[in-house]
Amino acid sequence: MTKTNSNHADEIMCECSGTTRGKIQILFEQGMDIDAISRWAGAVSGCGGCEWDIVDYLNTLTERKNKIT
Ligand code: FES
Repeated sequence: MTKTNSNHADEIMCECSGTTRGKIQILFEQGMDIDAISRWAGAVSGCGGCEWDIVDYLNTLTERKNKIT
């Protein structure tokens, strides 16, 4: 389970791997999808409880990126 009510870069989104929101954003900006982020940072490779939160965040980042470009 992730901590709620925070958009800070140091918010841990994956408790199993300690992957933060900021780390996920950086990896997304490098072109990684959830599978690559999982391989690179270990997110979603433990209990899997963070998967939907991370997918939702990646969708939000994608929407933001599409609005800008
Ligand atoms: S919280 Fe991410 S794999 Fe367990």
